[in-house]
Amino acid sequence: MSFVHLGRKPATDETPSGLLLDCHARIRSFAQLAVRLAEDDAPNAELADAAARVHRYFTQALPLHVADEEQSLAPRLRRFAPDVGEALATMELEHRAHDEILANLVPAWDALRSDPSLRRDTLDDARRLRSQLETHLAAEERVVLPAIARLPAEEARAILAELRARRAT
Ligand SMILES: [Fe+2]
Ligand SMILES: [Fe+2]
Repeated sequence: MSFVHLGRKPATDETPSGLLLDCHARIRSFAQLAVRLAEDDAPNAELADAAARVHRYFTQALPLHVADEEQSLAPRLRRFAPDVGEALATMELEHRAHDEILANLVPAWDALRSDPSLRRDTLDDARRLRSQLETHLAAEERVVLPAIARLPAEEARAILAELRARRAT
């Protein structure tokens, strides 16, 4: 088994939608890695490395993506594309549901770095997280991200600047 191909950075398309879709590719990859980490047998060093990577991704990178959507995207879409308001409300509720699952997984990933046998305890939550994220990302890609095209150009530029700034700090 190799975890090496999971979690790689995809090519970046420097538009708000392109950056957010790149994030989605990484979210799918790390959600898959979280399940494989719990399911597969691998050398302890490889399991510890995978646990460190999912821990880092879901505690550091995912919150930036959620901030992109809730702070940069949602307020502008509510103003300029109010018909997606319901989808935005669902999106934000689902973010909170992901946080609840991650509240179990994050300390478990931390613990299994020193005791890889604990990884089996993360399987149910990892599968639940992957399943919820699949539904969530698909809905965003179907309804929310296409609405960015309806924003005035200066609003799209402001989103791009905020996304970049969030990663530069
Ligand atoms: Fe989201
Ligand atoms: Fe998203």
